[in-house]
Amino acid sequence: MPQAVRKILVTTALTYANGPFHLGHLVDNVQADIWVRFQKMRGHQCTFISGSDSHGTPIMIQAEKMGLTPEVMVAQMHRDHQADLAGFLIEIDNYYTTHSPENQELVTTIFERQVKKGNINQRVIKQAYDPEKNMFLPDRFIKGECPRCGAKDQYGDSCEVCGATYTPTELKNPYSTLSGAKPIEKESEHYFFKLQNYETILRDWTRNGHLQEQVTNKLDEWFKDGLQEWDISRDTPYFGFKIPGEENKYFYVWLDAPIGYMASFKNLCDKKPGLNFDEYWNKNSKTELYHFIGKDIMYFHALFWPAILSGADLRTPTAIFVHGFLTIDGQKMSKSRGTFIKARTYLDFLPPENLRYYFAAKLNSRIEDVDVNFDDLMQRVNSDLVGKYVNIASRCASFIQQYFEGKLSATCSEPALYQEFSDAGDSIAKNIEALEYSQAIRQIMALADRANQYIDEKKPWAAIKDPACKQEVQDICSLGINLFRVLTIYLKPVLPQTAAKIEDFLNISPLMWEDRVKPLLNHTIKPFQPLCQRLDKKEIDAMKTATQEELDKQASTQTPAPSQTPASEPIKETISIDDFAKVDLRVAKIVNASHVEGAEKLLRLELDIGSETRQVFAGIKSAYAPETLVGRLTVVVANLAPRKMRFGESQGMVIVAVGPQNELWLLSPDSGAQPGMRVK
Ligand code: MSP
Ligand code: ZN
Repeated sequence: MPQAVRKILVTTALTYANGPFHLGHLVDNVQADIWVRFQKMRGHQCTFISGSDSHGTPIMIQAEKMGLTPEVMVAQMHRDHQADLAGFLIEIDNYYTTHSPENQELVTTIFERQVKKGNINQRVIKQAYDPEKNMFLPDRFIKGECPRCGAKDQYGDSCEVCGATYTPTELKNPYSTLSGAKPIEKESEHYFFKLQNYETILRDWTRNGHLQEQVTNKLDEWFKDGLQEWDISRDTPYFGFKIPGEENKYFYVWLDAPIGYMASFKNLCDKKPGLNFDEYWNKNSKTELYHFIGKDIMYFHALFWPAILSGADLRTPTAIFVHGFLTIDGQKMSKSRGTFIKARTYLDFLPPENLRYYFAAKLNSRIEDVDVNFDDLMQRVNSDLVGKYVNIASRCASFIQQYFEGKLSATCSEPALYQEFSDAGDSIAKNIEALEYSQAIRQIMALADRANQYIDEKKPWAAIKDPACKQEVQDICSLGINLFRVLTIYLKPVLPQTAAKIEDFLNISPLMWEDRVKPLLNHTIKPFQPLCQRLDKKEIDAMKTATQEELDKQASTQTPAPSQTPASEPIKETISIDDFAKVDLRVAKIVNASHVEGAEKLLRLELDIGSETRQVFAGIKSAYAPETLVGRLTVVVANLAPRKMRFGESQGMVIVAVGPQNELWLLSPDSGAQPGMRVK
């Protein structure tokens, strides 16, 4: 019986637009993307929205450090984040920003509704203030000595040395991390949302199947402590939306951030016919709304957000899906351990689907941390995807091609076996629906083992030697291909790129979940192409090295005082003339330059260095269109050890000058210099 079409709206946390995406930011997005793709394959109408969280003090301060206005910095980060998400094949229907007119309008309306309901309170509070910077200081901008052990430079909430927890006012010799000044206390009037007005509604909501059990338990602790008024205003200077009727006060970023989900959707509705904003957000909406988030922001999503929505007479979420944190080799990602891996660095060396598969193989519906160990990842990819899954097709396709002109048998020789594969789709679907991805992957790989076992038993490579067995070989291999096709349906939400290649190889239209019930019969497929490469330890090592190099570079250009620019970067330690002589610099002529698919910053250069031609991947895409480089002379480090990247080997490095905002100037000798000349 066909299922009714569900109307589903899915969101992932709006990432702060003050830094690049790291692997941790991908957890929400990969988890949600798999779920959304699955819903779409089931025929449901599922819309996936997300965007940048663009407001708040850290955004303002970071922009200042970079010498940019917050608007410009946020726009840059927004673009980079979008490119990273696309790189990981995350298909978001609208990636918007909280700094938008739609959001401002919604925030204002929602605030006014709370005022009318009597949910807003105003009173004067005392807060830490930086008398030099002339601004109130959020806790994380205050450091000082631990009140227990005296360790220096500790944050205002806890000591990294002895583990003590305390409030910022207890710090000894506190100072502002912005100016170094000693914070003073200053009074100011703030706006508060009376969360306690929603205690009954929230107690009820949090126990009615909208939350994972662990989240409900955590919330019970918060209820026990009593719900407090929530401060939703901030004083100038701030980057955000002004509170109506106020000159110097803004809405706190965490008020407008979740409303940003609505704004992103509103913006999409205005572009896309058939989507109706009110249908999804009205109080009695029949549509479904899901938020995918990490465990650190569950308070905002499971308490404030439903209360704010209720106060504004809007619908509340159907469910909030909370995941744990990403760790690397069992530890928090850390700059000092070199495990703070940026999404872009990963993409420069490794295929996105490998991480998607690895996450899927590890994720479940509980709030457990997701540990990434790259040796384990390599092993999983090589043994599951290459060794089991793709192997089924590569074992069968050559026979079909060579002896049967690509034609699959007209009948299914083992309907029971096929049925077993097709029936498994119900329970795999249940697991994906319930976010039990690891369980689903286990089932799929067990089926892959079963398919390989079938081919092992039937030995088409032996049977083909007997002319009387020709039909049998076609049947065996056709069934193999059909089992592979069913597995492709199940893996498609996780491996969309590979699935698209397989749809092409099988010569079929995009696979839907229900396509599993009928095998492909009497159908011509195309020649088999390699689908998924074995992962090599060298690629992982190269990614780790690149991460370490970025972190070293960052550490050496850390700007202690905000005004310092890279132009005044300190000169490095002295080296001898012999050290310098080790660097073999050559004049090179750029004979070819092109974009690299899937690389955001890189261009592929072909360099004539006199004696030979070299391929170099240079991170200069932001500064040069490839066609403008062809024919130009430059300087290359010719004896740099080659580095294997995802796109090929980089055999040297070109030399650029770097400006304060990372603007780039490619260095060139005067015209007349010849390729291959030494540069000394
Ligand atoms: N801007 C807020 C969210 C507002 S939603 C209305 C925010 N941004 S964030 O950039 O800090 O985090 C974005 C998402 O990434 C959050 O879901 C967060 O939990 C998640 N993660 C950030 N670091 C993470 C790990 N190390 N591991 C897993 N998830 C992590 O919070
Ligand atoms: Zn201490």
